[in-house]
Amino acid sequence: MQTSTKEHSLDLLQHATNTSDIITALRNVVDAFPGGVIFSTSFSWEDQAISHIIFTEQLPITVFTLDTGRMFPETYSTWSSTLERYKQPITPYYPDAASLQDFIEAKGPNNFYESVENRKQCCFIRKVEPLQRALQDKQVWITGIRAAHSPNRTDMTAIEWDGSNNIAKYHPLLNWSTDELQSFIRQYNIPYNPLHDRGFVSIGCAPCTRAIKPGEDFRAGRWWWEDASKKECGLHVHA
Ligand code: ADX
Ligand code: SF4
Repeated sequence: MQTSTKEHSLDLLQHATNTSDIITALRNVVDAFPGGVIFSTSFSWEDQAISHIIFTEQLPITVFTLDTGRMFPETYSTWSSTLERYKQPITPYYPDAASLQDFIEAKGPNNFYESVENRKQCCFIRKVEPLQRALQDKQVWITGIRAAHSPNRTDMTAIEWDGSNNIAKYHPLLNWSTDELQSFIRQYNIPYNPLHDRGFVSIGCAPCTRAIKPGEDFRAGRWWWEDASKKECGLHVHA
């Protein structure tokens, strides 16, 4: 049963996205999975490009964000400008209050710098568990992942199965170059996070993200004090 659901969803999704036009692909996906499509935004320029399409084309796709409580002030401003520009809802998901309270009481507010274990627990409480709630009862999860983000994203495919959340994933911008993305943002005057103009490429929580130098890996500024091999937060688990 499980396998057939997975294969059926992946087949349908593959078929729906078999076009180079992103708007047509997204329309096909919502037609193939009525009421079952959800998009996660962290207000990065990738996510802003996808939100722009969803909102201007009025696609019936739920847009949500995981508000960790530790995002940059600029990210919250981008969220506000997006609401002003499109006047469409963005649903925030929050960490479970009791789990967060216990964690901070036991280990302090900046415990993620002390060990990878603490850092992963913080990411679990602030992102992964709320994500599980957001994805419940949905069939397709759209993200803004691009292959250019990091070496371990270059071998990804635009469609994959997330076994931990039991959902098909679709990354419509996977093969977009940074130049293509920037010209799309400029062409439609899409609001974007001003940190992108200050050397921040991949933007997560404020205490765990810094700007990168020219030529550095896009994700070098995320959890910079950790080994490169550990730099994923558990949102995107690749099979
Ligand atoms: S992460 O794995 O490091 O956290 P990354 O910042 O590369 O993710 O973003 C990849 C995609 O994950 C984004 O395009 C977005 O779809 C989703 N995402 C990341 N962080 C969040 C967040 N806080 N809220 C909602 N979606 C997010
Ligand atoms: Fe916590 Fe940092 Fe993970 Fe944000 S990125 S959830 S602050 S460890």
